[in-house]
Amino acid sequence: MRGYFGIGAEKISKAMNLGAVLRTGNAFGASFAFTVGAHHRAREVALSDTAKSDIHMPLYEWASLEEMRLPKGCSLVGVELDPRAIDLPTFRHPLQAAYILGPEKGNLSDEAKALCTHIVKIPTRFCVNLSVAAAIVMYDRTLNLGGWPPRPITEGGPPDAEKWEAPRARRATRQ
Ligand SMILES: C[S@@+](CC[C@H](N)C(=O)[O-])C[C@H]1O[C@@H](n2cnc3c(N)ncnc32)[C@H](O)[C@@H]1O
Repeated sequence: MRGYFGIGAEKISKAMNLGAVLRTGNAFGASFAFTVGAHHRAREVALSDTAKSDIHMPLYEWASLEEMRLPKGCSLVGVELDPRAIDLPTFRHPLQAAYILGPEKGNLSDEAKALCTHIVKIPTRFCVNLSVAAAIVMYDRTLNLGGWPPRPITEGGPPDAEKWEAPRARRATRQ
């Protein structure tokens, strides 16, 4: 996949959710993960994150937004059901991005949203679980920047499916 990305959340409180975000981020090839003002016990995260993501992917644990330090040129992208948000299926992902989700109870803070270059929303009837939202955004990035072919007009896979085996294999072996 072109570029790189990080995935994180503000004021996340449930270890199972953080574990799921870490595992899924690792699976989708995130370069780093982060929390801002998290309330969780690391041991519980280790139990839920069966992929042991911290071995493969750094986790930054910032106490506040002021402490947050993103790489130069990395755009912060808020993930929230917000009036100013762009619908995810219409969004062109930045090559260098850090996606920040809101807490289980509440929304991304105004302070966090003010730091975001973009805010995206997933077209759902109501909010979904935080780790599910994270997975959908990462999957959408993979669709957008992963070098996949346009979908065929008729149902089923592309007629030249074997052509796409190489990029698929490259992605699968990346760690
Ligand atoms: C469970 S939701 C937060 C609860 C929700 N604000 C409420 O009380 O109605 C947790 C986080 O998941 C993300 N999220 C869930 N559904 C979303 C959607 N449809 N679009 C964008 N983000 C979503 C947001 O980052 C949100 O802050």
